[in-house]
Amino acid sequence: MVFLCLSLALGLVTHYVAAVVTSTLDDLIGKQFDFVVVGAGAGGGVIANRLTEDPDVSVLLIEAGGSNEGVLDVAAPGLVNLLVNSAWDWNFTSTPQTALNNRTLSVSRGFILGGTTSINQMVYTRGSSEDYDLWANITDDEGWSWDSLQKYIRKNERFTSPADHHNTTGQFDPDVHSFDGIVDVSLQGFSTGIDNRTIQTTSELSEEFPFNLDMNSGYQLGIGWVQATIGNGTRSSSAATYLGPSFISRPNLHVLLNTRVLRILQTENKQPNFRTVEFTQDSGETTHTVTASKEVIISAGTIMTPHILMHSGIGDSEELDLLGIRIVHHLPSVGKNLTEQPIVRNKWLVNSTDTLETIARNDTLLAEVTEEWERRRMGPLVDPPLSFIGWLRLPDNSSIFQQVPDPAAGPNTSHYELIVTNGALAQPAPATGNFLTFSTSVSSPTSRGSVFLNSSNPLQYPLINFNLFSTTFDRFTVREAFRNTKRFLAAHSWDGYILAPPTNATTDEELDEYINENAATENHPVGTAAMASKSAAYGVVDPDLRVKGLSGLRIVDAFYEM
Ligand SMILES: Cc1cc2nc3c(=O)[nH]c(=O)nc-3n(C[C@H](O)[C@H](O)[C@H](O)COP(=O)(O)OP(=O)(O)OC[C@H]3O[C@@H](n4cnc5c(N)ncnc54)[C@H](O)[C@@H]3O)c2cc1C
Ligand SMILES: *[C@@H]1O[C@H](CO)[C@@H](O)[C@H](O)[C@H]1NC(C)=O
Ligand SMILES: *[C@@H]1O[C@H](CO)[C@@H](O)[C@H](O)[C@H]1NC(C)=O
Ligand SMILES: *[C@@H]1O[C@H](CO)[C@@H](O)[C@H](O)[C@H]1NC(C)=O
Ligand SMILES: *[C@@H]1O[C@H](CO)[C@@H](O)[C@H](O)[C@H]1NC(C)=O
Ligand SMILES: *[C@@H]1O[C@H](CO)[C@@H](O)[C@H](O)[C@H]1NC(C)=O
Ligand SMILES: *[C@@H]1O[C@H](CO)[C@@H](O)[C@H](O)[C@H]1NC(C)=O
Ligand SMILES: *[C@@H]1O[C@H](CO)[C@@H](O)[C@H](O)[C@H]1NC(C)=O
Ligand SMILES: *[C@@H]1O[C@H](CO)[C@@H](O)[C@H](O)[C@H]1NC(C)=O
Ligand SMILES: *[C@@H]1O[C@H](CO)[C@@H](O)[C@H](O)[C@H]1NC(C)=O
Ligand SMILES: *[C@@H]1O[C@H](CO)[C@@H](O)[C@H](O)[C@H]1NC(C)=O
Ligand SMILES: *[C@@H]1O[C@H](CO)[C@@H](O)[C@H](O)[C@H]1NC(C)=O
Ligand SMILES: *[C@@H]1O[C@H](CO)[C@@H](O)[C@H](O)[C@H]1NC(C)=O
Repeated sequence: MVFLCLSLALGLVTHYVAAVVTSTLDDLIGKQFDFVVVGAGAGGGVIANRLTEDPDVSVLLIEAGGSNEGVLDVAAPGLVNLLVNSAWDWNFTSTPQTALNNRTLSVSRGFILGGTTSINQMVYTRGSSEDYDLWANITDDEGWSWDSLQKYIRKNERFTSPADHHNTTGQFDPDVHSFDGIVDVSLQGFSTGIDNRTIQTTSELSEEFPFNLDMNSGYQLGIGWVQATIGNGTRSSSAATYLGPSFISRPNLHVLLNTRVLRILQTENKQPNFRTVEFTQDSGETTHTVTASKEVIISAGTIMTPHILMHSGIGDSEELDLLGIRIVHHLPSVGKNLTEQPIVRNKWLVNSTDTLETIARNDTLLAEVTEEWERRRMGPLVDPPLSFIGWLRLPDNSSIFQQVPDPAAGPNTSHYELIVTNGALAQPAPATGNFLTFSTSVSSPTSRGSVFLNSSNPLQYPLINFNLFSTTFDRFTVREAFRNTKRFLAAHSWDGYILAPPTNATTDEELDEYINENAATENHPVGTAAMASKSAAYGVVDPDLRVKGLSGLRIVDAFYEM
């Protein structure tokens, strides 16, 4: 094992830097691994950590990106917007979206230890209990229900005091949290100028926009304070936690960075047994293989997991045949049912200078708040750019339900999400003006798309087609979400604050024009390696996460709340 001491170019205080323990190719020669895990993101980090709790189990974790250590923009929550299209992003792009004037959309995924947990907005959202109970129903496995999963949710979470140590009474419900898990979770650590107005609106318009003390209790509906995977004002990613210094140095855990997995190969010809991983460290010039003695676990995420499977000949046989890929296992659900939450970032012009733009546009001020963060973990950079979240439903008598069934997992599960930001989210910030952003997204979308291959070359990026707004429900919901947001901001609490709306559109047609130009992906893709019951004719994995019809191969990817 080699200790790679990273050169620290950052100067002054670098408390978030520690030596990382990683392997080189030479370290692997002659070693045997029980498990090989592909991808060190949300799923891969947890699996590698839990498997190596047993000192007799050896794990090789392979990650395409580099180390997170010493990366300021990754560690400081307030700099998260700098991570999109950065060196730590895969920078995928969707195919032209026909319902959105054929625009292509950017698709961010973490290219770094910790995967997308190292670049995401850190919002800690469990979802509604009904979502989990639906998983249990679909998989015919009670182990996936809300109640059954509580013990793991609690093993994961370590609720901690926010950076400013303010009194958090009335901002969350301690009874539904755990204080001794691994991933830090905390409330906002630097208050913003719009917090009081937002809170006041939840009492002023309590019927439509009720306050929810804790949206992670299983009952998610309403508006409440954001909880984020942050501790001591610092990102608590899967790299910083499950692969943190005390775990990554376990002698039975080997981590290979900057290594791209190309395919999974059949290990024995007799049985469909896939335990051999093919990878490259030089863009395909030379390839290597490693064989797990027990299992291979793919945790490459929603975009790359189906990509690897299909290049390995696991997918729809007719479609792979057209690309000249030798089929080894016909599994038509691979890459299908891609589901994304479309978001519109609605930006109101406001009468205030106490917003994010003021910092983003002033290099001197940005340097000051960065230094404050580095020295004390205080100030505006301790939080991601959002302070409240709402989970809301269309009314039961909404006309859409005369056309389509309610797609939410139950009557207490949201149709749309509201995200409140004290500023504009655009990067770079708009040249003038101060803003309030109310982002609206469809949280129970019904459009389905796919991840498919561009060619038989595993180094080429896949074709990602979300098919956003291909259903009436999604279109209807995003329009209503915008209209409801206007009602929220018409409350007295906002008197004198709002100067101009993001659009004057009011009719469906006008709103559609605005949406078609402004909708984006929320970067919450799921569904391409779906779990289904053992007896179901569709699905990629069974409820034990084994690839259907094969042995030696599992898939463990994080799923965002659906
Ligand atoms: C900008 C942004 C903001 C977000 N905000 C939130 C939020 O606030 N709250 C929330 O809950 N979710 C958020 N998400 C979504 C959430 O982070 C992801 O759903 C989650 O991290 C996905 O986990 P995963 O394990 O499936 O994949 P990832 O975390 O993406 O992990 C996959 C890993 O596999 C590696 N990999 C891929 N292909 C290969 C290969 N061929 N060889 C080797 N390694 C490979 C990748 O580099 C990566 O490290 C956000 C996402 C983005 C992009
Ligand atoms: C993503 O784009 C950025 C900016 O162009 C670039 O620096 C980075 O290398 C790209 N990521 C990958 C994985 O190629
Ligand atoms: C989108 O592209 C398709 C196929 O190229 C074309 O038929 C259609 O007219 C385009 N739509 C718009 C709004 O440009
Ligand atoms: C799933 O829910 C449906 C509808 O409520 C019910 O008929 C079915 O029995 C449930 N299946 C399981 C396995 O719980
Ligand atoms: C926090 O506030 C609550 C209610 O306002 C109060 O009862 C409690 O004593 C406060 N806690 C501390 C530690 O000050
Ligand atoms: C918000 O309300 C709290 C409690 O009522 C008060 O202490 C604080 O000063 C208010 N903040 C602003 C910015 O008005
Ligand atoms: C997509 O998911 C649905 C269930 O939501 C299932 O019935 C269908 O078979 C899936 N399609 C594929 C190709 O797996
Ligand atoms: C902005 O707010 C100030 C008070 O804080 C007020 O005097 C001024 O008239 C407002 N400007 C506009 C354009 O409403
Ligand atoms: C930028 O921030 C610095 C430091 O807080 C401040 O002195 C300066 O006035 C600001 N500049 C502008 C243009 O607001
Ligand atoms: C929080 O971070 C600061 C700055 O790096 C450090 O001095 C302090 O010890 C940390 N506190 C905790 C509780 O880890
Ligand atoms: C739904 O019910 C509410 C209150 O009962 C009523 O104000 C509204 O007009 C109804 N909407 C429709 C589409 O019927
Ligand atoms: C929805 O949640 C409310 C409040 O917790 C509860 O009273 C009600 O029984 C729930 N409805 C269903 C169908 O579970
Ligand atoms: C909305 O209408 C007003 C008044 O006609 C106009 O000044 C403003 O530019 C319009 N806003 C947008 C976003 O088009």
